[in-house]
Amino acid sequence: MESITKNAISIEKVQSSKIALVDFDNLAFGSVFSDHMLVCDYRNGAWENPKIVPYGPISLAPAAKIFHYGQSIFEGMKAYKDDTDSIFLFRPKDNHKRFNISASRMSMPELPEEYFMEGLKTLLELDKAWIPQSEGSAMYIRPFMFASGEGFHASPADAYKFMICLAPSGPYFAGKVKVLIEEKYSRSANGGVGYAKTGGNYAGQFHPTQLAKSKGYHQVIWTDDHKHENIEEAGAMNIFVRIGDTLITGPTSDRILDGITRKSVLEVAESEGIKTEVRTITVTEVVAAAKDGSLKEMFGAGTAAVISPIAGFGYRDTDYELQEVENSYAALFKKRITDIQYNRAKDPFGWRVEV
Ligand code: PLP
Ligand code: COI
Repeated sequence: MESITKNAISIEKVQSSKIALVDFDNLAFGSVFSDHMLVCDYRNGAWENPKIVPYGPISLAPAAKIFHYGQSIFEGMKAYKDDTDSIFLFRPKDNHKRFNISASRMSMPELPEEYFMEGLKTLLELDKAWIPQSEGSAMYIRPFMFASGEGFHASPADAYKFMICLAPSGPYFAGKVKVLIEEKYSRSANGGVGYAKTGGNYAGQFHPTQLAKSKGYHQVIWTDDHKHENIEEAGAMNIFVRIGDTLITGPTSDRILDGITRKSVLEVAESEGIKTEVRTITVTEVVAAAKDGSLKEMFGAGTAAVISPIAGFGYRDTDYELQEVENSYAALFKKRITDIQYNRAKDPFGWRVEV
């Protein structure tokens, strides 16, 4: 594996920062971007030329294969600042690993860990002042790669760009989340690309999600493409249900994104002695549990979503509401995980990485 040092990353700084224009007390999710971005090229079979430049438009050929065949992948991460201004990442090597799993599925070149980690750390140090400190906010990190090589032949490109942009962000969902259990459309299929973080997986969700939004829901809960009988995941997060005192989430598969927050929740649950099952969750059992009151909680887990309690779900023209519970699992997991992320508690799992 090639290695790079910080000296190998060329840095062109902005002439004047935009930071004074940002209202850090009212940050939306992913809509303002820091001063700089990282760009790195893949040509002639090798990664080269990592550079940090002012955030701004890039130039691409109209025949770049990203526009025609959608070779694109991304990751979602966050950087957190504690009250001494130290910066932390959460399980970043897991994101790098998943990035390469996505790359391989989309016939794109893998990225050496050094390019990912060193590039990210250098960029974060440069734009450190942009990392928000207020509760519920963090620096959302978007590493991504796309086919910049040209050609209309439907085959993998010969050139790619890897980039990282930073967006100081508030919460992904403004309030409580209502979801719709989907029976017509599918997000992914056996043998497909559901487990890869590739752009098309998200574009394909926009239409059904817009339909759900027009009915008052925030996200779609995807069911299996075969019979639409089992709960898979939501558009931007993995799903957990609590029936009685048992925490349940579906198994990962080639249809589902193997979420880092999901596996962290499972580890925290184990350390708390919470009874946990990783198994197929049927829509029928969730509806029955909602009717008889044993469905205590439902929540989503993801980097952007953190732990998002679900206030209710729609299924076949009926809405089911969930009442707030005392000693909520969602609240417990959110506290345990964010306390580690923001360096407010010891990290017995070894997840926190100081930048
Ligand atoms: N599922 C989907 C489709 C996602 O986009 C995300 C977000 O990255 C997740 C689940 C949660 O994954 P993670 O916890 O690694 O952010
Ligand atoms: C993330 O949680 O990082 C994601 O990638 C979800 C995205 C749709 C915002």
